[in-house]
Amino acid sequence: MNIKDDFPILKNRDIAYLDSGATTQKPKQVIEAIDKYYENYNANPHRGAYSLSIEATEAYEDTRTKISKFINTKAREEIIFSKNASESLNLIAYSYGLENLKPGDEICISIMEHHSNLVPWQKVAKKTGAKLVYMYINEDFEISEEEWKTKINDKTKIVGITHVSNVLGTINDVENIVKYAHKKGAVTIVDASQSIPHMKIDVQKLDTDFLVFSGHKMLAPLGIGVLYGKKEILNKMMPFLMGGDMIEYVYEQETTFAPLPNKFEAGTQNVEGVIGLGAAIDYIEKIGYDEIQKIEDEVIDYARTELSKLDYLDIYMTPNKENHSSVISFNIKGVHPHDVASILDSEGVCVRSGNHCAQPLLRYLNMDSTCRASFYLYNTKEDVDKLVSALNKAYNMFKKYIKVEG
Ligand code: ALA
Repeated sequence: MNIKDDFPILKNRDIAYLDSGATTQKPKQVIEAIDKYYENYNANPHRGAYSLSIEATEAYEDTRTKISKFINTKAREEIIFSKNASESLNLIAYSYGLENLKPGDEICISIMEHHSNLVPWQKVAKKTGAKLVYMYINEDFEISEEEWKTKINDKTKIVGITHVSNVLGTINDVENIVKYAHKKGAVTIVDASQSIPHMKIDVQKLDTDFLVFSGHKMLAPLGIGVLYGKKEILNKMMPFLMGGDMIEYVYEQETTFAPLPNKFEAGTQNVEGVIGLGAAIDYIEKIGYDEIQKIEDEVIDYARTELSKLDYLDIYMTPNKENHSSVISFNIKGVHPHDVASILDSEGVCVRSGNHCAQPLLRYLNMDSTCRASFYLYNTKEDVDKLVSALNKAYNMFKKYIKVEG
């Protein structure tokens, strides 16, 4: 089986695509599902009594059921569609955080959070008087058990943690962090954006109160995301956005809201995105997480080994392989990552460079930016070879300008 054959763009463009942490490429199965929707049953769901709209509604709601099974929720209405993980996190911050925190409470997040799981909490902290507390990383780029046990305490009301860091690839011990947070009486949020493309998530086993992810990092289109929340908590929360289809009765001065999940899905939804996400889940399940991990283990192991041989690189990654996922950040010592990324681009290698929406983490590491190679199931050892050869080229171009310190 050649997985690349399923991805038209990887046949149409001669590239080593190493930016799946930002967005993945889409298999033809997803592209075809979207085409089929527009060619055969496009209509506004939940709003028409005619069969076309009913078909669109069924496809939309069937996907909710599919996602519910995929992450093993207790009830299908615990799945809320959003624009992306950022919107899901904002929904939690506004509808739960702003309503439930008070001065003296603490919100505990990690220093490796994406801005989406950080900036909203700054706002909540400022508005409610709660304190924003950080769990920091150690020299292995990991959050130690001692660190999370120190930072999560009886004052902690919310713990927000990314499952996998989008900069470091570190896999956090979310299962135990959630358990500990619950013991202390806090509500937990797991950002699964960088983990769900690569590993099985079972929300009942994980027992987190909220979990968020974006479709576009797991083979689905851009503009579709998911919020999972435990029903008893979601039921008590006020809607985040007001508008069409999230109401029950609207009077001139008052409104009552629809039950879950509609309460949180105001306005016409991204049906194309939902259908695409359903097809992406079918694709992931067809290949299987075991196979995905097998492919990735081989390619990422190879990347770790080959990049580690380049002594002109600084690499920011845990030495503990079992705690590391699909992302490798690095710099050519003394060369700006944007310069490196543009040389790599001229060699057909796509990597992200910049702060990766994680400025506090980079600042904590005394850096502004890195280059980042992120891998997915369609990557091969040849892609790694291309990366290494492009890096050698970049280094050879820049080495005469590199200032040696000391
Ligand atoms: N959050 C995405 C990334 O890490 C965009 O690249």
